[in-house]
Amino acid sequence: MLSREGNSPTIHRADYVAPAYWIDTVELCFDLDPAKTRVLNKMTLRRNADVPPQPLKLHGEELNLARVLVNGQGTSFKMEGELLVLENLPEGTESFDLEIFTTCFPVKNTKLMGLYVSNDSFFTQCEAEGFRRITYFLDRPDVMASYTVTLRADKAKYPVLLSNGNLVEQGELAEGRHFAKWVDPHKKPAYLFALVAGQLVAREQRITSRAGKNHLLQVYVRPGDLDKTEHAMNSLMHSVAWDEARFGLSLDLERFMIVATSDFNMGAMENKGLNIFNTKYVLANQATATDTDYSNIESVVGHEYFHNWTGNRITCRDWFQLSLKEGLTVFRDQEFSQDLCGEASARAVKRIEDVRVLRTAQFPEDAGPMAHPVRPDSYIEISNFYTVTIYEKGAEVVRMMQTLVGRDGFAKGMKLYFERHDGQAVTCDDFAQAIADANPASDLARLLPQFKRWYSQAGTPRVHAEGVYDAVARSYTLTLTQSCPPTTGQPTKEPFVIPVGLGLLGTSGKDLPLQLEGEAAPMATPRTFVLTQASETLRFVNVDVEPVPSILRGFTAPVVLEFDYSDAQLLHLLANDSDPFNRWEAGQRLAVRSAIKSIAGDAGATRANPLNDAYIWAMRNVLHHPGLDAAFKELVLTLPSETYIAEQLAVVDPQQIHAVREAMRLQLATALQADWEAAYDTNHDTGAYTPDPLSSGRRALAGMALTQLCIAAVASGDAVWPGKTLQRFKDAGNMTDRFNALAALVSSGHPLATKALQRFHAMFKDEALVIDKWFSLQASAPDRGGNILPAVKQLMKHHDFSLRNPNRARSVVSTYCQGNPAGFHRADAAGYVFWSERVIELDAMNPQVAARLARALDRWSKLAEPYRSAAREAIARVAARTDLSKDTHEVVTRALAD
Ligand code: TRP
Ligand code: ZN
Repeated sequence: MLSREGNSPTIHRADYVAPAYWIDTVELCFDLDPAKTRVLNKMTLRRNADVPPQPLKLHGEELNLARVLVNGQGTSFKMEGELLVLENLPEGTESFDLEIFTTCFPVKNTKLMGLYVSNDSFFTQCEAEGFRRITYFLDRPDVMASYTVTLRADKAKYPVLLSNGNLVEQGELAEGRHFAKWVDPHKKPAYLFALVAGQLVAREQRITSRAGKNHLLQVYVRPGDLDKTEHAMNSLMHSVAWDEARFGLSLDLERFMIVATSDFNMGAMENKGLNIFNTKYVLANQATATDTDYSNIESVVGHEYFHNWTGNRITCRDWFQLSLKEGLTVFRDQEFSQDLCGEASARAVKRIEDVRVLRTAQFPEDAGPMAHPVRPDSYIEISNFYTVTIYEKGAEVVRMMQTLVGRDGFAKGMKLYFERHDGQAVTCDDFAQAIADANPASDLARLLPQFKRWYSQAGTPRVHAEGVYDAVARSYTLTLTQSCPPTTGQPTKEPFVIPVGLGLLGTSGKDLPLQLEGEAAPMATPRTFVLTQASETLRFVNVDVEPVPSILRGFTAPVVLEFDYSDAQLLHLLANDSDPFNRWEAGQRLAVRSAIKSIAGDAGATRANPLNDAYIWAMRNVLHHPGLDAAFKELVLTLPSETYIAEQLAVVDPQQIHAVREAMRLQLATALQADWEAAYDTNHDTGAYTPDPLSSGRRALAGMALTQLCIAAVASGDAVWPGKTLQRFKDAGNMTDRFNALAALVSSGHPLATKALQRFHAMFKDEALVIDKWFSLQASAPDRGGNILPAVKQLMKHHDFSLRNPNRARSVVSTYCQGNPAGFHRADAAGYVFWSERVIELDAMNPQVAARLARALDRWSKLAEPYRSAAREAIARVAARTDLSKDTHEVVTRALAD
């Protein structure tokens, strides 16, 4: 099939071969100029003696080649598509010099891969295959080299010149130019190369590690943003300390830099010693950033820092192993954030939030046309595989390993992993083997080959549970049966190893002692059972009354649990479960059940009042519960998202789901009005701002209460709470409270929202990240009679809008297409037409951003008519283009094949 990039071959994991050459050293010299940058690349190479002699084929993309020298002499070469092929290289395995001189065009680089210009500064992004846009190279992660980099640029325009490693020399040059020379003491794959040049300032911090070494930490931003760097720096210091304390991994560099840019395709990048970040994950002060921003910054700073070991010191052999570094590093950043919370209930809140992301984003991916194993077998464009499956499901796979070997066992496994593989490019198998070998007596070691099916089999397994109580025998028999739906190329699946956290609640709500048949005495709870067969039965003895099972506590495995709970049983779990995850989950199940009943038109749950009294009563109890913190209450009171409800249905009518969820929100708002007032009163004043879990939780609950009170007020015509909300919006001492008040007005559809939005824009017109929030709040507002699409089109005409800036494009277009189902899925198909136009428009400038947006229609085949046919038609329209990037081409052709 043809695309803009010509043929797009599928790359297969099974085809891996070691590189024909090694590149040992690289000396790069840049003459930085936005219009035309000159790159001199001097390498030393040698043949890989393990593979048959063959020509050297170097990757390159959108480069202008001026000169190729081998050992200082001109040489013949040819081009094979974009590959530079050298056939007449010295024989033998002695090392030789290769010098390549090219130019590239940073200011024209709208893909933001390779070397590009943002706000008059230079940045690079090389993962996964961006280095080939800078120079010809063996751009694959198993080729690791030592880098020396000299940057030359105009001194006034680019006073700061940064690259990986240590600054060894700097000085003046003629014509107002200057230079800086950097040496990275560690070998690295090309995807970890980085340079930055521009007018930047840094917050600096000197630290001494546990090991007694001194390090300089720097956070570089544009001059006006220094007052927003304290939290990122604190997060970095916490990250350094945490990796030493939990895993014994110390910082291996004298200098560690973070640089923020407002033009970035993803969240951040772990380049060795020179992390480059989207400003969204660096800049924060209480006036401009919300609690969510603060916690995202902490996670992402941690994530990139932790890559320094898991990703950089040990990297991936090939891109099929991406989860080796990403799954493991997400697991590590999740653990980091939990450990910083300290307190058990805040940890549980973090866990619930992580699982919510997995279930609302990864489960649909695993059930759709882009479903792939954690270690994929093939791809067309690797950028499309930076997915929630690789990241979040990958993290769950690592978490299951920790569950199976214990926390200390896992730390031992990590130690062995570094003993064996430090400095190498390895595979997911190598990682799993190390964890297992360090814990020879563990379930993981016993079950390793079967466990590794989590890497090879796509799809979300289902665990069906059935319980039978025998009053005479005083036994409770729980049968667990697993299955996994077919995915593309994998019609049948073998059983997984599934750790199942389990408890049985008695009538009082307390955990019962758990004694399996054959055990001499009960064992302490909670217990984790390891399901390995298609079906297994657990028989508990000495059970005096019929218990309520609490299954998959803590979400011990990334599976869908099916158990035919009665409402009464779920209410019992919601009121009593000692496991906070399952306590929350019980509430979610009740809400989903009501939504589905209402959609199906079942008696009892009417369209106007989908929720029953028992549920509302339970929610009131949660709101008033003295033993639960505000953050947990806010999670329990948050109804399952429209996306999550959609996944529970075989056929999806997004308008119906929206209507029922809005009806549930209104019902909670009116039935609990007095309770929301009480919740607001007790939680709205959190004193001097700090983004800690306790006060964030209180702000979140107060914000939710305001939304609910505004919804109730809009329904009743009352003016008091909307007025109070507007006042709160004006007086707020921090962005969290201010934005929550604004969102309450917008989300309830109150007329005061218009004025508040105008005022908000005026207040923050120079704060790009706040303006992104302003755009996305409007693009995600609840659809009322089809009003959102016209509003979105109007937003795109706003003078602050630009499709070129990924954050801004996402704040309007992706938010609308991927975060506002009812606004997007219109019976007149206008949302889909808008989508196809934006995908095509974006694809011409930034394929990665376009391909992500293209995934908005992944689940088209589940839609009810008329949505289904219209969505398919829109995808086909995009797929029919002959000028698509590999990225978008792969996404839409896979979608059509579904
Ligand atoms: N390795 C980065 C991370 O997870 C991801 C990343 C940043 C990325 N920028 C990218 C991946 C561009 C693909 C393309 O931390
Ligand atoms: Zn990562």
